[in-house]
Amino acid sequence: MKNPFYNRDIVSIKDFQRPDLDYLFKVADNLKTNLPNDSLSDKSIGLMFFEPSTRTRLSFESAMNSLAGNSISFGDPSSTSTQKGENLSDSLLTMDQYVDAIILRHASEGVSRYASEICQSPIINAGSGSEEHPTQAMLDVFTIMKECGKVDGLNIAIFGDLKYGRTVYSLLYALSNYKPNIHLVSPKPLQLRPDPLLELQDRLNITTHDNLQDIISDLDVIYTTRIQKERFPDLQEYERVKGSYKIDINLLNQAKENLILLHPMPRSDEIPSEIDNTVFAKYFNQVSYGKLIRSTLLYLIFTENSSF
Ligand code: NCD
Repeated sequence: MKNPFYNRDIVSIKDFQRPDLDYLFKVADNLKTNLPNDSLSDKSIGLMFFEPSTRTRLSFESAMNSLAGNSISFGDPSSTSTQKGENLSDSLLTMDQYVDAIILRHASEGVSRYASEICQSPIINAGSGSEEHPTQAMLDVFTIMKECGKVDGLNIAIFGDLKYGRTVYSLLYALSNYKPNIHLVSPKPLQLRPDPLLELQDRLNITTHDNLQDIISDLDVIYTTRIQKERFPDLQEYERVKGSYKIDINLLNQAKENLILLHPMPRSDEIPSEIDNTVFAKYFNQVSYGKLIRSTLLYLIFTENSSF
């Protein structure tokens, strides 16, 4: 199969289908043991983070380092000319002159698509408002594959703030390439937005629940998300729902012994730290798979004929 990622924008997970994901995961498996560690020595990436980040930014930088490429970045737009009123397109076109690919995170939906239309370099969407986070979805599905051996037939609960969490949408669209049973579990005010739900119901077997208790013994995966305080248009609404969901360690006594707990991170209080020492906690493995998937993506975006 031809490398489907070569010179490609990664704006939406909806632009990629199961053969593309299978290709990515196969190369990731091979790269893990045979990292061609000087393969991107003539390439550079520019990271433009208009919103905070720890894992996404560091994993891309670390991935680029491990392939001998260069990176330049900002993580605080107030230290850039944005603060002087420079418009977004001028900032994007400037970065476009310096690097071979741009990793972009922004609070507004649609910005990555816009960037992909005006820039020469491939754009990798590292989070666009409440809309999407495609590379997170790739690493999330890869983590499920590695930890559970498959995706088809699994009972996967997505738990938490499903309304505003962008990782939730990208993950659900990614999972719609497979045949899992999806259980959406959230407080009522934080349920999935209606339009994507309608679209996803056509492609996935989805049921909704008020709590994990009712389904815990059937689950293979629980994917928990943080309440997205910064996305609430009304902070009073946030105050009403904050702290309204949490994984209770006692609940895990009723779980299958090979249940895995995932979280895109950062967490607030929805996974108490006492759970970290249980066999279920796989969220730091997920962080580690994140670097591997992002290394693989960068390698494939820049390498037309992959030798893997
Ligand atoms: C997520 C994000 O930015 O959407 N973080 C991440 O990239 N792993 C999740 C979040 O902020 O809750």
